[in-house]
Amino acid sequence: MLRTHNAQSLNLSNKGQRVTVAGWVDRRRDHGGLIFIDLRDRSGLLQIVFNPETNKEAHELASTLRSEFCIQAEGVVSPRPEGTVNEKLPTGEIELLVDKLVILNTSETPPFYINEESDVDENLRLKYRYLDMRRPTLKNNLIFRHKVVHMMRTFLDREDFLEVETPILTKSTPEGARDYLVPSRLHPGTFYALPQSPQQMKQLLMVGGLERYYQVAKCFRDEDTRADRQPEFTQLDIEMSFVEPEDVMDMTERMLLEIMDTLRPDAKYPRKFPRINYFEAMSKYGSDKPDLRFGMEIKDISDIVAGCDFAVLRDTVANGGKVMGIVLPGCAKYSRAEQQELVELTKTYGSKGMLPLAYTDEAPSIDELTVESVKSVATKYLTLDQLKAIAKRMEVNPGDLVALIADKEDKTLDVLGRLRQEMGLRLGLADPNEFCFAFIVDFPLFKWDEEGKRWDAVHHLFTAPFDEDKGLITMEDAGKARSKSYDIVLNGFEIGGGSIRIHEADLQKQVLKVMGYPEDIAQDRFGHLIEAFNYGAPPHGGIAMGIDRVVMLLCGADSIREVIAFPKNQSAQDMLFNAPDVVEKQQLKDLHIHLDN
Ligand code: AMO
Repeated sequence: MLRTHNAQSLNLSNKGQRVTVAGWVDRRRDHGGLIFIDLRDRSGLLQIVFNPETNKEAHELASTLRSEFCIQAEGVVSPRPEGTVNEKLPTGEIELLVDKLVILNTSETPPFYINEESDVDENLRLKYRYLDMRRPTLKNNLIFRHKVVHMMRTFLDREDFLEVETPILTKSTPEGARDYLVPSRLHPGTFYALPQSPQQMKQLLMVGGLERYYQVAKCFRDEDTRADRQPEFTQLDIEMSFVEPEDVMDMTERMLLEIMDTLRPDAKYPRKFPRINYFEAMSKYGSDKPDLRFGMEIKDISDIVAGCDFAVLRDTVANGGKVMGIVLPGCAKYSRAEQQELVELTKTYGSKGMLPLAYTDEAPSIDELTVESVKSVATKYLTLDQLKAIAKRMEVNPGDLVALIADKEDKTLDVLGRLRQEMGLRLGLADPNEFCFAFIVDFPLFKWDEEGKRWDAVHHLFTAPFDEDKGLITMEDAGKARSKSYDIVLNGFEIGGGSIRIHEADLQKQVLKVMGYPEDIAQDRFGHLIEAFNYGAPPHGGIAMGIDRVVMLLCGADSIREVIAFPKNQSAQDMLFNAPDVVEKQQLKDLHIHLDN
């Protein structure tokens, strides 16, 4: 080894010892003949000192050191002189008096500061990712990620799961995104698809009798990137035989609790994750991944305004729509401009408009409300009784602003759900140290795709219906069928999803038929799975967690790019390798590909 100790492992107990450390020059200061270097390695920082009187040669060499030079230094650990102790640094009580210095490598001036958490353009950070990860934030995130994944593996190993690898070159598994395709050289005109998830493979592993499988699996989806989405991401993929939904949820809950207890014991989180019905989540929070750190529940006031004189509200209800709202606590004082900003915000969510009702604190209580104390364009069309009824239903306090949306039910819920999430964060109602895990359960099996005029799977097409809903898998009734599915959500993000699967060939064929797959295409795409079901396939189910998202949330990062060593940028490009890139003509020829230009 080129060193005897990690920088940050040294302390006063090493006083007088001769040690060798190796790392990078974080900072250099020259003080009246002495040269101080903060030496950085993965463990942290150590001050090393060059004194011309101790070793002239080492001191001279030290004067040539620049930021990010890679060095090896040998010397004696010594307590810092009185008055120079740095309380903020774990090694702040000591320094290394160096008498031997080796420059292992020099460095160009880095394109951004490594020793400061300055704001740097993300594409520049991605291009120089190897420098970015010398900075504490990314380094610590990667260390944290390692710990999370290590704990997942340890937990699942203890619970008798087998880690099995599945192919990357495979055939399309529908998870709702576009596939990445890989042309075949040996079979002209044909393509492998990169897996959107190992869904069918893990089901086949259950047919194969492995009973409990997991994999830290790379998944590929050609979809727009977002803060919580990458074209290439990692799942903790799990499948179990002979289980019911509660078994999978219980296992997931115990694993996450073990991770939280070990890695985030400082945080607030429930010992039992609530199981919330999908429809309840949608009607209360307008989202199937609600942030439960704050209330601000959506309330339906359609019945109150059905007969009112305000045409927009009245007509919406008359036309079968809904009028619903949320309370923004303490926001009655918002100026006209601030209210207008909220209206514009809801428009970006697809609303036609938003109606603010400011219940000012001119009225000391809701019982003492007057029409004049409520400020809104709508007050001249609403009676005092109606304003009071709205306030009661919505549990308004004087000083609150009510945001009302009138539209078709699903649009109203969606817009309010997004507004709720945004305002919960803006108003500081979401405690960053609180982790509100919950399972959203019993999703509908299908949703109607208006564009394609077909039934689409809400989870995926391998998901089992409720036993008593099997008879509803028909073109007419499919919308009513419930599924044995569950998502795990955390603070407004979906961190995982799963279901009990169909394990009977006839039921799988029926689902494919209702989804409009012609028999030959169903056979071509899923024949292998359906055939496997004919050989004593066991009942089975599972879950997949987005590791990037879990780690992002647990370490408080605001994008999954912050917890991935080499992520793609927002345009799905790899800035370091410059991928995707053109290839040699001969490579295209080998792959039987002709480009248009
Ligand atoms: P699903 O498609 O819900 O289910 O994916 C499971 C979890 O993977 C994460 N995830 C992503 N993370 C980053 N970037 C993406 N583009 C991305 N897409 C998904 C999310 C999500 O909850 N085979 C099923 C699981 C099963 O049924 O067992 C599946 O893949 O956290």
